[in-house]
Amino acid sequence: MSIPGTIYEAIGGQEAIDNIANNLYKHVAQEPKLMEIFPEDLNESARKQSLFLTQLFGGPQLYLEERGHPMLKRRHLEFEVTHERKVLWLKCMDKSLEESQIEEPYRSAIFQRLTMTAEHMVNTLD
Ligand code: HEM
Repeated sequence: MSIPGTIYEAIGGQEAIDNIANNLYKHVAQEPKLMEIFPEDLNESARKQSLFLTQLFGGPQLYLEERGHPMLKRRHLEFEVTHERKVLWLKCMDKSLEESQIEEPYRSAIFQRLTMTAEHMVNTLD
């Protein structure tokens, strides 16, 4: 069940979240510095990201059901997440939100939340 009044509902539910995740990885694929740590086939990455974003923004707990507790910082430890890569990841997300036609105030709310999460993921000096 998703909860009315959530960002998830307001932006258009699962379809909107899937668009955000797919557009995100379309841009990640264009960034060599990011692709040094991402797998060549990003379909699975986009799928898992969609599960996570769904629950983060108030939709059903899809990520929890399939992957368990997110523990995202821990799941990222095996990859060198530098400040430079964080900035690139956020740039990709910014473009994705625009292309996915997420409107204000949701777009800024989503981007702010993800900026905090991305900052938390940094684990390696540039
Ligand atoms: C700061 C820059 C970031 C970098 C460089 C980065 C990099 C990566 C890499 C290399 C993977 C493993 C490949 C994959 O499964 O896709 C991954 C997985 C993942 N990332 Fe990130 N990430 C970043 C930020 C974030 C943020 C902000 C979120 C949450 C909004 C996030 C959510 C995820 C999720 C849900 C997975 C899949 C974990 C799993 O279930 O295995 N990442 N990330």
